[in-house]
Amino acid sequence: MTFSTQAFSTQTKARQRCSWLPDLTIYPGPRYRALADAISDAVRSGALPAGTRLPPQRLLADALGVTTGTITRAYAEAERRGILTALVGSGTYVRDHNTNKTPIFNHPVQLEQGEIDLSMSLTIPDPTRIERFGRALQQVSGDASALAAALSYQPEQGMFERRNTLAQWLTRYGVTATAEDLLLTQGGQHGIFTTLQSLLRPGELVLSDNLTYPGLIAACKQLGLRHQGIAMDGEGMDVAALERVCQQQHPRLIYLMPDLNNPTSIRMSIKRRHQLAELAARYDFLILEDATQALPASERLMPLCEIAPERACHLFSFSKLLAGGICVGVIKAPEHLMRLMKNALRAQCWMCPPLPATILCQWIDSGEADEQAQWQWHEVSERQRLVAHYLEGYVYRHNLYGFMVWLNLPDPWRASDFVQAAMREGVRILSAEPFCAGNHPAPQAVRFCVSPPGDRQQLEIALQRLQRLLQTPPQCMNMLV
Ligand SMILES: Cc1ncc(COP(=O)(O)O)c(C=O)c1O
Repeated sequence: MTFSTQAFSTQTKARQRCSWLPDLTIYPGPRYRALADAISDAVRSGALPAGTRLPPQRLLADALGVTTGTITRAYAEAERRGILTALVGSGTYVRDHNTNKTPIFNHPVQLEQGEIDLSMSLTIPDPTRIERFGRALQQVSGDASALAAALSYQPEQGMFERRNTLAQWLTRYGVTATAEDLLLTQGGQHGIFTTLQSLLRPGELVLSDNLTYPGLIAACKQLGLRHQGIAMDGEGMDVAALERVCQQQHPRLIYLMPDLNNPTSIRMSIKRRHQLAELAARYDFLILEDATQALPASERLMPLCEIAPERACHLFSFSKLLAGGICVGVIKAPEHLMRLMKNALRAQCWMCPPLPATILCQWIDSGEADEQAQWQWHEVSERQRLVAHYLEGYVYRHNLYGFMVWLNLPDPWRASDFVQAAMREGVRILSAEPFCAGNHPAPQAVRFCVSPPGDRQQLEIALQRLQRLLQTPPQCMNMLV
């Protein structure tokens, strides 16, 4: 057999074995780009449905009569476009943008009689808050110029006066800001989404703690970003582990909750913050620090946006401090990033609705927002003292002023069994699973929040039920052959 007939028969055999084979003759330009375009078209037309495994690179190279390098480059390009995802040791797959099944936004559910929901991090449903909100609303409704402004289009960043009020608020909490530095958002989740959407391209890599806020996981999936978790310890993200990843890959952004990680309540030490800022400069990545889980000023350490002002965006939302329904958040961003963020916001919705920010700022200017926040922090600390009482002897982590409790379950409890057993006892809590970045294995731990019950008595009933469960060994329920 001559060389060319041998090559011909290799190609024929490869073509027969290939599960998918594009016709590249219809695509102009370099072969790698032609293949990336063919993959895009096949995904769009449904010929390559979500989850499909693409042919192995060698096989497809033989079938198309190109080098393996061309296929590698094409798959990388399609990955960059957010169409494919490569799983180490498994292959390359068509991304499934609809598999956001992580139960993250567990909206309030109709509770059964006697059932207590500790699964969500919500503000305490305090009746005084409603009165305070009512007063702010009344004041705004009597202020013709505020109403006129709320009825008008405003700059993408938000109205200057509102940003001014919010800049003063942030500065009181250790984030020095002026109105020019700020962009209003419709809450924390919108802030995360807008930051990622404006600063990253599909396929780029986002890093976070191994255990992180599920809204970040959802946003990365939705935007076709790669997301990977980094190990953490009691001081926050393990910077040595982060550096190892940076040496091999090019993360574009690191997402952190430095003062209060959701779900673990870990606070990043000041030393780690400085080390992280150094790595950001050395490996050229951006930082998104999320302070939505708001703590009193005394509980906060120097924010990353003060340590690395050129690279760090600071996100704050009033959802945990005042009310989830007010939907006002704010991002402090370096000037060179602000332009991109404004573009994204304009493309999404022109601007955030001015009315909620107007009411919120009235609430702040009257001093009642501070009063509400102080009341809530005090009440949360009393509730966390109850947790300390009922969980004495167990391994858990919390911040006295934070909503969350992270409970490492005693052997032999498994998190999924514990969550179900708690549910049978009428207490809703979450396992670690929805908080795991990538395929990080979920620890046998659960998260619950002290803030949703209307009063401390309700919380105490729930804690008694959980304590009883912890004292009872789990039933052996699953017998499989
Ligand atoms: C860390 C963190 N960031 C962002 C959000 C979302 O904030 P918002 O409700 O303002 O969208 C939450 C909500 O729980 C959160 O815990």
